[in-house]
Amino acid sequence: MTYNTKIKYLKNKINNIKDLQILELGVAEGNSTKMFLEICDKNNGNLLSVDIDDCSNVSNNSRWKFIRSSDDEFELINSKIQKPLDLIFIDSLHEANHVKKVFFNYYNFMKVGGICVIDDISWIPYTVGKKKTNSYVAITNNRIFNKILEIYSSNINKFTLEFFFEGSGYAIITKLDNTSLIQEKKIIISKNNIKNLLKKFFLSKPKQ
Ligand SMILES: C[S@@+](CC[C@H](N)C(=O)[O-])C[C@H]1O[C@@H](n2cnc3c(N)ncnc32)[C@H](O)[C@@H]1O
Repeated sequence: MTYNTKIKYLKNKINNIKDLQILELGVAEGNSTKMFLEICDKNNGNLLSVDIDDCSNVSNNSRWKFIRSSDDEFELINSKIQKPLDLIFIDSLHEANHVKKVFFNYYNFMKVGGICVIDDISWIPYTVGKKKTNSYVAITNNRIFNKILEIYSSNINKFTLEFFFEGSGYAIITKLDNTSLIQEKKIIISKNNIKNLLKKFFLSKPKQ
C-alpha cells in the first residue's frame, strides 16, 4: 500500500515528460524499473539502469539498457549517458556519503528542470513503537536526510528541495541552473538567539 502510494507519486511526477531520459541506480526485482519502462513506452523515453547484481532479466524492452556495476564506477557509467537526464532515481546503496557521491557526479548530467529523486530518506517508520522498528535503518535514513539538507544549505538557488514522507519517503531535487555544486558543510544553529539571551539574563539576576 505504502510502496504503491510512493511509486504512484513518482509516476505522476514524470507521466507527462516527452522523450524522457532516465538514469536509475538500484534495480533489484525491477519494481521501479518496470514503472519507468511503462512511461518510456508511452512517452518515447529511454531508461539506463545500474545495479551491482545481475538484474538483466528484469525486462527485454528495447528502451532499456542495464549496466551491471557499482554505481560509483563513474568512468564506465558516465560514458553510457548519451543525453541530458530528465530523471535520476537513486535507490542503490543506502549510506549518506555514497548517496552524496553519486548525486554529485550524476547531477552534472541533469537537464535544468530535471529532477533527482532519492529514495528512503524517512526514519519515522523505523523508530521505536512503529511496526517496522529498526534502529539501523532509522539511523541510516536520518543520516541521508541530514546529508541532503547540508547539500541544499550549501547550494541554495541551484536546486529546489522537497520531501515526500509517505513510507520511507523521497527527497525530490529540481535543478534550477547549470552551475556546479559546492561541497556541503555542517548546518550550524547559533545558540545566541533572543530567547536564550533573555533566559541567560533573567537566570543570572540575583533574587530579591
Ligand atoms: C532497494 S533495492 C532497489 C529497488 C528498486 N529500485 C525498486 O524500487 O524496486 C537496492 C538495489 O541496489 C543495489 N546496489 C547496492 N549497492 C549498489 C551499488 N554500489 N551500485 C549499484 N547498485 C547497488 C542492490 O543490489 C539492490 O538491487
